[in-house]
Amino acid sequence: MARPSPVINVMTLTARKAARELVRDFGEVEQLQVSRKGPADFVSAADLRAEKTIFRELSKARPGYGFLMEEGSGATAEGDGRHRWIVDPLDGTTNFLHGVPHFAISIALEVDGEIVAGVVHQPLTDETYWAERGQGAHLNDRRLRVSSRAKLEDALIGTGIPFKGEEGHGHYLGTLARITPMVSGVRRMGAAALDLAYVAAGRYEAFWEFDLKPWDIAAGILLVREAGGYVTTPGGDPNVLPSGDILAANDRLHQPLAELIRSVPRTVDAAA
Ligand code: IPD
Ligand code: CA
Ligand code: CA
Repeated sequence: MARPSPVINVMTLTARKAARELVRDFGEVEQLQVSRKGPADFVSAADLRAEKTIFRELSKARPGYGFLMEEGSGATAEGDGRHRWIVDPLDGTTNFLHGVPHFAISIALEVDGEIVAGVVHQPLTDETYWAERGQGAHLNDRRLRVSSRAKLEDALIGTGIPFKGEEGHGHYLGTLARITPMVSGVRRMGAAALDLAYVAAGRYEAFWEFDLKPWDIAAGILLVREAGGYVTTPGGDPNVLPSGDILAANDRLHQPLAELIRSVPRTVDAAA
């Protein structure tokens, strides 16, 4: 196994620190489910608290690095202009809010526009997925490799479904209609960072979703690539962050899935 580098250690320790707070807050959320007001405000506060902890720890460890963080409403703390942390303090907020135990913290480091390190930490299972460019992907101390299943009919595929306030419902349903009859199963688990980690770990053969934000996918993209998988837009562009349209898959199934998704015109949105 590649030994985690100092920067991976910083990212992992930071994620674990924020995770301890989230686990405590998640216990509280489970209690709040039955209250009339519900846990929404409490969850927003938990999200912000986790982000502040991550900001504080990473700033302390690497002064001068910039930030792109979800709860800072995408605002960038400029930094030195070369290094940037891309952070989602709580990916899977809707799950968290409903007491569903599937959420994660995602931290990526970008240097000169390239993602060079990524950590996705799942607090409730204590699983830390990490990758560094050129050093492979790992789950805790185990090396990861994407699955070798080569047939669509054997494939389990993750996805993300648009929801209230988002566009592209008809187009998305078109892609779902193309893919479901061809594969063994489709899952919508509600945390894109973990969906990508699952592709890296060979649990899913692939994952697709549209319109994601950099903090949802920056760390996960590196995980999949370092585990031997392919990540592009469905159109084949390896630069995924600008559009957030993503297809991540093992080397055998990336192309057939890209073709299926591309066969649905973007203009199909009538059903929405
Ligand atoms: C969301 C999750 C979800 C995806 C959404 C994201 P959040 O992030 O990753 O799986 O479908 O598009 O916004 O809001 O839980 O951090
Ligand atoms: Ca997210
Ligand atoms: Ca989030």
